[in-house]
Amino acid sequence: MGKILAGKTSEIPPGKMIKVESDGKDILVANVDGNYFAMDDTCTHQGASLSEGTIEGSTLTCPWHGSTWDCKNGKLIAFASQIKDLASYKTTVEADSVFVET
Ligand code: FES
Repeated sequence: MGKILAGKTSEIPPGKMIKVESDGKDILVANVDGNYFAMDDTCTHQGASLSEGTIEGSTLTCPWHGSTWDCKNGKLIAFASQIKDLASYKTTVEADSVFVET
């Protein structure tokens, strides 16, 4: 458990997402209408980096096979087969910096 700096708010504008690393784990941080959300970056299907996919509202689409995820809670929205949900993490903003609690 820890708190990591994800980046400056200016580096993650609305509609964007970035990938950060914490203890060897890749974490995606997304800005949805000015609110920041964090979840595991690695798709539970075959391991794509979800931060390389697309985001619309809070819905992420995996760049490899199109699974969709809710970045607010890490839960799978839709995919052709059952795959595991992803962990999500609390975010905080202090001054102009975004932090993730892992
Ligand atoms: S790796 Fe994400 S849907 Fe296949």
